[in-house]
Formats: sequence, C-alpha cells, structure tokens
Amino acid sequence: MNEEHKKQYLDKYYQAKQKGVKFFPDIIYKDLLIVFAIFIILIMLGTFIGVKNEPRVDPNDSAYVPRPEWYFLFLFQMLKYFPGEIEWVGTTVVPGLAVLVLFLLPFIDRNPYRHFSKRKIGIGVMSLIVLGMVFLTVQAAATTPPSEEADTLASSLSEEILAGSDLYSIQCVECHGGEGEGGEIKGVEGLEGVIVNPINSQDMMYTRTDETLYNIIDYGQPNLQMPPFGTANGGELGPGEMRAIVTFMRYTWDDRAELPQEVTAASAIPVLGPDEIPSYEVHVAPIFKRYCISCHRPGKENQNNLMQTYDEVMNTGDNAPNVIPGDLMSNLIRMINREDIDAGGPMPPTKGLKPELIEILTRWVLGGAPNTAAEAAAAAPAGVAPSEVVPSEVITTTLTAPDVTAIPEATTTPAP
Ligand code: HEC
Ligand code: HEC
Repeated sequence: MNEEHKKQYLDKYYQAKQKGVKFFPDIIYKDLLIVFAIFIILIMLGTFIGVKNEPRVDPNDSAYVPRPEWYFLFLFQMLKYFPGEIEWVGTTVVPGLAVLVLFLLPFIDRNPYRHFSKRKIGIGVMSLIVLGMVFLTVQAAATTPPSEEADTLASSLSEEILAGSDLYSIQCVECHGGEGEGGEIKGVEGLEGVIVNPINSQDMMYTRTDETLYNIIDYGQPNLQMPPFGTANGGELGPGEMRAIVTFMRYTWDDRAELPQEVTAASAIPVLGPDEIPSYEVHVAPIFKRYCISCHRPGKENQNNLMQTYDEVMNTGDNAPNVIPGDLMSNLIRMINREDIDAGGPMPPTKGLKPELIEILTRWVLGGAPNTAAEAAAAAPAGVAPSEVVPSEVITTTLTAPDVTAIPEATTTPAP
C-alpha cells in the first residue's frame, strides 16, 4: 500500500466515522436482534423437527457403523490418506497448519482492496480448499455403508418375514402361542399361570406402531413379566432380528398389510394324498418348528426333549423314546391329543394343535415315522404320489389369519 492509497483510505475512514453509526448501542442492538431471531429459529427447529435419536448404545452390535457428523466428514475422510503410523499427521499436523495459516493470514495477505475482482489469488486459494473439503465429504458419504442394511438379516421383504417367523417360533411361542393367541402360560419356568393377552388381534395391531412393538421386544415389559430381548438389555436378539420379528408380526396379523405371495407359498405345507405317508423333513419339521421348539430346545431346564432335528425328536427326553414308529400309544401322539400322562401334560401345553396337524403327526407315526421324503415314499403303498408334485393341492391356509394354521417354511432339505 503506497502513501497515496493510505491517505485516501484514512480520509474515507474519517468521513465514515463522522456520519457513521455508533457501535454502542446501535450496532450492538442490531446484533442482538439477529441473535435473537436465530435463537427462536433454533428453538422452533428443536421443537418441530428435532434430531432423530440413534438406537441406544449396544456394545454387542457389531453391525453399527460409527460416523462423525456430516460437517466433520472431510476430516474423517482425510484420515484415510494417513493410515496407521502417520495418522498423527492427519489428526494434528495438517489441521494445525491450517489454523496457523488462518492466524497469519492478515500478515501474509496485505492486499488493501476488498472487491473480489482485486483478490483473485486469495479467492482462488480458498475456493480450492472449499472444493477439496466438498470432495472429501462426498467421498466419505459415498463409502459409508448404509447402517440399516448392515444389520438387516434379509435382502427382501419376504426373506425378512420368514426370518422373523423363525425367530418368533423360537423366542416367543412358548409364552404367546404359535399364532400369538396368548392365554394362560403353562410349561414355562417361572411364569406358570401368567395370563397373556393375544398379540395377534387387530386391536393390538392397530394401536401399536412398529416402533412400539420393537421397543416392547427390545426392553420387555418388566413389570408385566415380558422379558427383554435386545442384546443391550440382556437379551439375545440384535436390532435386525428384532426388526424382522416386528415385520413378521405386522404382515401376519395386521389385516392392513398384505403378505407377499412368496411368503404364502413358502409357508404352506402340501396336503397329504389319501394314502400318502408324511415325512419328517417335509411335513413334520415345520409343525415342530412353529409349535414346539420354542420350549423343546437346548437351554430349557424343565424338560430334556429336544425337537430341532430328526435324531433329537426320536431319541431325546426323560421319557424317550417319545416317538415309537407305528405305535399310536407313543407319548407324542397321546400328548398332542391332550392326554395327561406320566411324561407330561397335553402338548403344546396351552392350546391344542389344529386337527389337520394332528392328522399329519398321527399318519407320520403310523407310517413308521420316516425322516426323508424318499423314505416316506418307499413306505407308502405302491402308486401313491408324493404330495409336492401336486401343486394345486397345496394347503391354502396362510400366515395371515390368526385362526388358520400357520406353518413356516416347508423345507425340502433335511434338518441339520
Ligand atoms: C417368558 C414369556 C414371554 C416370552 C418368551 C415373550 N413374551 Fe411377550 N409378553 C409376555 C408377558 C407376560 C407379557 C405381558 C402380559 C400381556 O401383555 O398380556 C408380554 C407382552 C408382550 C407384548 C405387549 C402386549 C401389550 O398388550 O402391549 C408384545 C407385543 C409381546 N409381548 C411380544 C413378544 C414377542 C415378539 C416375543 C418374542 C420375541 C415375546 N413377546 C416373548 C411374556 C413373554
Ligand atoms: C410352553 C412350552 C412347551 C411347548 C410349546 C411344548 N412343550 Fe412339550 N413339554 C414342555 C414341558 C415343560 C415338558 C415337561 C413335562 C411337563 O412339564 O409337562 C414337555 C414334555 C413333552 C414331551 C415328553 C418329553 C419327555 O421325554 O419327557 C413330549 C413328547 C412333548 N413335550 C411334545 C411336545 C410337542 C409335540 C409340542 C408341539 C406340538 C410341544 N411339546 C410343545 C413344554 C412345552
């Protein structure tokens, strides 16, 4: 800045001061007005829009993707270029230098003009920096895996419903029943005699949002003796699993949601031909899976009869064998016909199986309790076609109506 410029500038400054506005109180007053307006806007935003809460911290949730707020993403991304040993360069040196340059800027840049056309270098450099920050932010955002997907079990709605159905069968059936019908709990340690309301009613479905259902599963209802299932609360289900159960409940019991076709197909079991013998893998396993394994699985101490594989069904239990091929006096058959015998009371304890299902189990035991479809076909009188080849005869009952038999996933591969 030469002498001439300096004089001009000081003149201008002097004039401005003469007719100018006073800092106190005029400028302060204007500032206060703006600050107050921003304050009101913040309160409005907080009240009417708010920030979405993240789920409660869960150290067991390995699928959680930690990310800084968006305005720090560029720094976060920069760390990727300074891996391991030299990370300190990215975390300390580079930002430190940037701040130092800002401090020194008035000494570095002595240009007296304010108009942008006279500040090409300064504006150019700053634009580059801003562009760089935008670029890094975009990079970071693009490489962030969507956290929703990261902890979802299934890639499609149908898969999620079926996964939820399986989880429901294992975790919830013992207290809520195979179809969510509720009733008096029997055969569950510590909860004998507790009355549970139906959770499959429209009343329930219309008044509970997905979030409410999720929270009930996550936190339980301790004062009503509903246990918590979320890993953060001492249970064994992750967020994706709990979401799958909620999805299953919604699509199965809420008449406003329509169950996808694939689910209906996957959860139907074939109708038996007149002389056909059912097999464990095709007909029986899905029944046990929905109505029995919730109690008959490892970890339950009030009985030792496991029912997750053919071997377990045939050989485990304090009163084993509970299935004697060809013998309708087998414990299993007597118990599903609601007899009270030495081995235990009626099974499932709360509500009897549908007649169609009792029929399948009866014919299975009578036909020699075969494991695979091939064994069942071999045991049947000559000329009886296996049920799967007659698709038009597939039982059309679906998971939808609470009152109709609901059997998930008639699998055609032997249980492990
Ligand atoms: C050990 C028994 C038990 C198990 C297992 C269990 N619950 Fe519950 N649940 C209860 C009891 C008891 C209540 C409270 C009584 C009631 O609401 O009827 C309850 C209440 C509920 C409610 C709330 C009902 C309402 O009126 O608000 C929902 C929803 C529910 N359970 C869903 C589930 C799901 C889903 C599972 C499986 C992940 C499950 N429960 C597993 C015992 C159990
Ligand atoms: C709510 C939990 C529960 C459900 C659901 C349940 N059981 Fe049981 N089951 C028990 C208990 C507890 C026993 C131990 C005897 C008793 O207390 O009555 C038992 C015993 C048995 C036994 C005798 C085992 C032995 O060797 O002593 C058989 C067989 C049996 N159940 C079959 C079934 C079948 C088949 C289903 C499904 C259709 C089923 N159970 C569903 C709780 C359950």
